[in-house]
Amino acid sequence: MSRYILALDQGTTSSRAIIVDEGGHILKTAQKEFRQIFPQGGWVEHDAREIWSTQMGVAQEALTAAGLRASDIAAIGITNQRETTVVWDRATGQPIHNAIVWQDRRTAAICDDLIAAGHESLFEQKTGLRLDAYFSGTKIKWLLDHVPEARARAERGELAFGTIDSWLVWNLTGGALHITDASNASRTLLFNIHTGDWDDELLAVLDIPRALLPQARGNSEVYGETAAGLFGARILIAGMAGDQQAATFGQVCLERGMAKNTYGTGCFMLMNTGGAAIRSRHKLLTTLAWQLGGQRTYALEGSVFVAGALVQWLRDGLGIIRSSGEIEALAASVPDSGGVVLVPAFVGLGAPHWDAYARGTILGLTRGSTKAHIARAALEGIAFQSAEVLEAMISDSGVSLTELRVDGGASHNNLLMQFQADILGVPVVRPKITETTALGAAYLAGLAVGYWRSTDELCAQWQVDRVFEPVMSADERVARLARWRKAVGRSLDWED
Ligand code: G3P
Repeated sequence: MSRYILALDQGTTSSRAIIVDEGGHILKTAQKEFRQIFPQGGWVEHDAREIWSTQMGVAQEALTAAGLRASDIAAIGITNQRETTVVWDRATGQPIHNAIVWQDRRTAAICDDLIAAGHESLFEQKTGLRLDAYFSGTKIKWLLDHVPEARARAERGELAFGTIDSWLVWNLTGGALHITDASNASRTLLFNIHTGDWDDELLAVLDIPRALLPQARGNSEVYGETAAGLFGARILIAGMAGDQQAATFGQVCLERGMAKNTYGTGCFMLMNTGGAAIRSRHKLLTTLAWQLGGQRTYALEGSVFVAGALVQWLRDGLGIIRSSGEIEALAASVPDSGGVVLVPAFVGLGAPHWDAYARGTILGLTRGSTKAHIARAALEGIAFQSAEVLEAMISDSGVSLTELRVDGGASHNNLLMQFQADILGVPVVRPKITETTALGAAYLAGLAVGYWRSTDELCAQWQVDRVFEPVMSADERVARLARWRKAVGRSLDWED
């Protein structure tokens, strides 16, 4: 009898494997960081082979540490950093170039040209996305234009494109399956979220041959099984979703109007909008949350590019903390930021500004400013970005949130969560299990194989750890937000 689900969570800075039991408890976790490659300013790459080797390594490690064999696993669920683009050779399985990571800005000028040519509203209407370097479409175009022979080979059907979910499934199945899922497909700029299919008009504008693309599948179905020899016994692969959609599922935000915010490398707030693809009037994204049994659920998304990455920068770039966990005590050692405001626009700004040329800034420094003030301003900067997103989301959806569910590494920072509640004016709710990304992938896979029978069972597993109630006065909130906006104004349109 198979007793567990194995979730593979392939994130921006690490590959993780998590074993989940029927009660939704985490039995074992294994994690490995991998190289971040910065070939030049604004460029971010990963070695896709390293992504695969670290992901397989942690999967084996988690199974061994839990004393399990492949036959103990009912199914594998996959979740991944989204938009990151890999193109590989179908015959050899070798990537033709490093993966271009979602944070990479090299295609900003391609986006500018597409906007100048009047294509913006076509992409927005069909994909729910903005013409921004964040998404996969222009990254694929760049690879086809810059890697020798790539375009001709793509046209001959010799190459395959995939986001990281596709890349993992291809490798897990020994090249038998070239598929993606609806949520990841909806981040490519090539997928029509209203019809649930790749769109020939968009492919023509970006000059991308259809032969390159994977088959787009639902989020919870048996896709296939692992290749012989990989795990000892073959394991079913039965769930896939982009990490932010998986976290929304793991937070059981299954009803229209429910929202979550994940504090990972970036910060991603998604609100379930049910069967309606709401077009944002405030520069949010309309995206596919998931497709289950042929039925599509949509979400509004506010993508903030730098959150946890800012804490990493304080550690590795500035050296003012030795470990990420130290930031809370340092920030709490001063009563406020002493007037310091930090806008972490290191890779431009996402929602609701969408300025690829914005850059980070620290304002309000005085002779009295210390590293503690900077640490506090950094945490506040993370929260301010999410506050701007939530404001846009409420206006777009017409739904007033009664709570915001939070997860991800930095959701354990109580100072940040309290400030987040204060600056949102909405209670922030942290569940007992904050591994919701992996949990969501496990749930999707488990539902497909009957390990869980219905989403009601999943809802019953979700439990509150702590609620952060807003205590800041409305006047102070308004004043703090106004100062933040002034600082953001100084960071916009900086880089040529
Ligand atoms: O869209 C990018 C997002 O999927 C990255 O997530 O968890 O690696 O910060 P994460």
